[in-house]
Amino acid sequence: GKGWATEHLVHYQGFWLTPRTALKGLMWIQDHFNPRATDIFLASSPKTGTTWLKALIFAIVNRTRYGISDHPLLTAGPHDCFPFLDTYVDGNNRSLHELDVLPSPRLLSTHLPLGLLPNSMTDDQSCRLVYICRDPKDVLVSKWLFLNKLRPRQLPPLSLEEAFELFCQGVSHYGPYWNHVLGYWKASLENPEKILFLKYEDLKKDPFVVVKRLGEFIGHPFSLEEESGGVVEGILKLCSFENLSNLEVNKTSVLKYSRDIRVDNRDFFRKGEVGDGNNYLTEEMIQRLNAIISEKLLGSGLELGN
Ligand code: A3P
Repeated sequence: GKGWATEHLVHYQGFWLTPRTALKGLMWIQDHFNPRATDIFLASSPKTGTTWLKALIFAIVNRTRYGISDHPLLTAGPHDCFPFLDTYVDGNNRSLHELDVLPSPRLLSTHLPLGLLPNSMTDDQSCRLVYICRDPKDVLVSKWLFLNKLRPRQLPPLSLEEAFELFCQGVSHYGPYWNHVLGYWKASLENPEKILFLKYEDLKKDPFVVVKRLGEFIGHPFSLEEESGGVVEGILKLCSFENLSNLEVNKTSVLKYSRDIRVDNRDFFRKGEVGDGNNYLTEEMIQRLNAIISEKLLGSGLELGN
């Protein structure tokens, strides 16, 4: 049946992927996708802040083209303004053509781990890649709630205990989560000009600073006039959880790019807080997951959550 069930994932080159991504999308991207020097990629694990960052990058890049009243984000969901490379492609010429005719700079996102991206994307020194990660406890809970909405109808919902066990074993969409994060983390250290590594928590804590940094990184730096004229604040307000989640388009419409299952825009907006995972997980679960993450990240110089 249609839907995304964690139990249906297949293990491919160290990561857990949907059969469709592993069998079709991935091959298509590796064989046919040609990056342009001006492309801006967003990479993330699901539920780490992808939707928010899509809106922010789109708004930064297009800030001189649209005003407050005619902005595309008011009438189109962030995912329709910034499509997913890996679910957008069908393995047919139509998707190839659609990608080819997108104007530059193309904004494209992916959930694929770094190691599964085509070499053309990682070798190219001009195109930029932004990665976002998040406290695994919040990711796990956000994902559990999200995926239960997208489960095939014939399957019962996954309990939090089951979702937790699977996550701790590394079995989650595009997981193990820690390996996804570590791949991009290490690459960002080696190549900071090309890969910007962000955390959801930093974006929540200091959005002004992070958005300025983002603008600079993707080649659209804010001028002093823009900064003092409230342009950064305007973008933050446009892309805020409160604003986006209350827009009609994000309450009612369905994701356009998703070709295998129906996904409602509203499911990408739940709570948008730091630490909400702790309201669901038991103390024992929190300690166990913290211990796994500390062990996996040991020596990497990266900290996540805790
Ligand atoms: P919660 O389930 O914890 O609320 P993704 O976009 O990668 O699927 O991640 C979804 C998570 O980001 C959800 O987390 C969602 O509520 C949150 N989110 C969506 N839009 C946001 C925004 N504009 N600001 C902050 N968080 C946002």
